[in-house]
Amino acid sequence: MSDLSAPTENIMRMAPVIPVLVIDDVAHAVPIAQALVAGGLPVLEVTLRTPCALEAIREMKQVEGAVVGAGTVLNPKDLEAALKVGSEFIVSPGLTKKLGKAAIEAKVPLLPGTANASDIMTGLDLGFTRFKFFPAVASGGIAALKAIGGPFGGVKFCPTGGISLETAPDWLALDAVICVGGSWIVPKGPPDTAGIEAAARAARELAR
Ligand code: 3PG
Repeated sequence: MSDLSAPTENIMRMAPVIPVLVIDDVAHAVPIAQALVAGGLPVLEVTLRTPCALEAIREMKQVEGAVVGAGTVLNPKDLEAALKVGSEFIVSPGLTKKLGKAAIEAKVPLLPGTANASDIMTGLDLGFTRFKFFPAVASGGIAALKAIGGPFGGVKFCPTGGISLETAPDWLALDAVICVGGSWIVPKGPPDTAGIEAAARAARELAR
């Protein structure tokens, strides 16, 4: 693994599942983070898809044990905004050279989205070896990841997109997979913290 991806891998190894969060009310941020951490999922990806996402990241960072990153980071401007509120890692749905270089310059772990061999080659050129495979199911699922992974021996993935508690074990069983991402753990709307904690616990117990 390149040194560049070592910090990313450390984060990927903290739990089998990275919850993908869409926070639409900043008041939900801390209770959701507390429930996830209590359930054993410390790595939290807050997508920059809602007006309060940046504020939610700032709030969640106060929760002891939480490792909070920004998702849906599309360009260097998003990256800068995410870093300003203290994001500890960055996730993107795809990879551009501009974004990759900005993350390298900022020395922040980046999990760049890839869906095909060309994306992975762009990432490798920049020095990345750990990728999100997105959208995992729509891009051909496990068969596609196996076929894509074939030529790229040392490359590892966090498949995300269309994965559930029921299907996660099949992904986690692959050598090329370190963890998976998914939104199933935190349904939309006012948080049912007991339900979130239980869903986190079930995800935490997934073998890999
Ligand atoms: C993402 O934002 O990374 C994915 O859309 C999450 O996919 P899911 O909602 O199918 O888990």
